[in-house]
Amino acid sequence: MGLKVIILAAGKGTRMRSSLPKVLQPLAGQPLLQHLVARAKQLGAQKILTVVGHESHLVEAVMADQGVHFVLQSEQLGTGHAVQQALPEIADEDSVLVLYGDVPLTADSTLKDLLGLLSPQQPLALLTIDLVNPSGYGRVVRNAHHEVCAIVEQKDARPEQLQIREVNTGILAVQGRFLKQWLGQLQSNNAQGEFYLTDIIAMCVADGYSVHTTQPATEMEVLGVNDKAQLQALERLYQQQQAAELMRQGVTLLDASRLDVRGAVTVGQDVQIDVNVILEGSVTLGNNVKIGAHCVLKNVRIGDGCEVQPFSHLEDCVLAQNVSVGPFARLRPGTELADNVRIGNFVETKQAKIGSGSKVNHLSYIGDTQMGAQCNIGAGTITCNYDGVNKHQTVIGDGVFVGSDTQLIAPVHLGDGATIGAGSTITKDVPAHELTLSRAKQLTLKGWQKPQKR
Ligand code: UD1
Ligand code: CA
Repeated sequence: MGLKVIILAAGKGTRMRSSLPKVLQPLAGQPLLQHLVARAKQLGAQKILTVVGHESHLVEAVMADQGVHFVLQSEQLGTGHAVQQALPEIADEDSVLVLYGDVPLTADSTLKDLLGLLSPQQPLALLTIDLVNPSGYGRVVRNAHHEVCAIVEQKDARPEQLQIREVNTGILAVQGRFLKQWLGQLQSNNAQGEFYLTDIIAMCVADGYSVHTTQPATEMEVLGVNDKAQLQALERLYQQQQAAELMRQGVTLLDASRLDVRGAVTVGQDVQIDVNVILEGSVTLGNNVKIGAHCVLKNVRIGDGCEVQPFSHLEDCVLAQNVSVGPFARLRPGTELADNVRIGNFVETKQAKIGSGSKVNHLSYIGDTQMGAQCNIGAGTITCNYDGVNKHQTVIGDGVFVGSDTQLIAPVHLGDGATIGAGSTITKDVPAHELTLSRAKQLTLKGWQKPQKR
């Protein structure tokens, strides 16, 4: 007996007013559906069945490598009809969890509690919540003994049922055998002419079983996304959670409302993050790391004692220890900085391995470069790595001093301890421990006169 998770994601999401299907709209940088799939995986789902319909090809393409099984619902005839499409994949002994593609933030613990209610005597369990304003939701109808009798949709509800505050979140757990049996009996004789999944609640009761319910810890867990305002609201709630979690781990945030985490962050001790920082993908920050204001860090590993100063952009790079970057630095993919490296303002690096203690402090481009330790690269130095067709390597030894405004035309090699005179264009390999320069000798034309205006 295994757990099968069915995610309903066939709807269009008209109110998003977007060409992107609703379940692909991003929350914290990832499609809504991705959040649900991750949750299903955490719960140990044996199979994740996603019911797709609107723009199904697009949804399938985006989620192709996620190990998700897609089920097509070509016409959207209701939530019950949607679940029916997945039945061929459901065995009698399975536990089935139904999730909605547009409700992304339900906690694992809540879903575990819900699944925990299932037993041979209890084939159906519901996640419900009491709302101050229940408008729009299906209402949970209970009898005098407070036992669940049915769910009534808003459009089918009698006036006194509309007063009920306890609503159906849409999320339910059910045993495979019963799900098949009850879905086979569904009819669409209701206000919307749809096959309602929620009708199985009354069927369960009619078969003599009681329906048990559980509630999430917070309302946020069951909030749905129907328009861009709700999407934004959930984004902020999600970000608050991320920030709270980082602070719980000891991170100092100068303003918890001005940090955005769009991925997974691992932190050491005494990390400090200033305002308006975006962390994307997989980010690891060691002990005593400081991130200045307005930085974007995507897929980076930053070692102990490093400081990234304001307005820096780092992607796919690794910083060892006590490295200083920025302000206004751009570290592109393949940048690897050893201990004590300093990268200053308006410096761009790409596919660059820079040895310990080396400094590139101002206005430089260092690309496709291997640099040794203790080098000093003067302001405005450019590695000319591209000949218009191919990229070439620049290899710089240890202890090299490159004077300001130098162009290193790759492929080129600078030997250990070499010194390059400022303003040079270096086209040939440079010997170790010598001064090399390539520039016209300075001369003064005595008695030279400025031209006169005609
Ligand atoms: C549903 C519930 C209601 C509950 C509410 C919670 C039913 C009949 N009603 O109502 O009790 O309070 O959710 O938000 O289930 N979908 C499909 N195929 C379809 C129809 C819907 O995949 O044919 C998907 C939608 O994409 C969406 C989800 O199912 O992700 C819910 O559908 P929706 O039409 O929004 O249901 P509600 O009317 O909100
Ligand atoms: Ca809905």
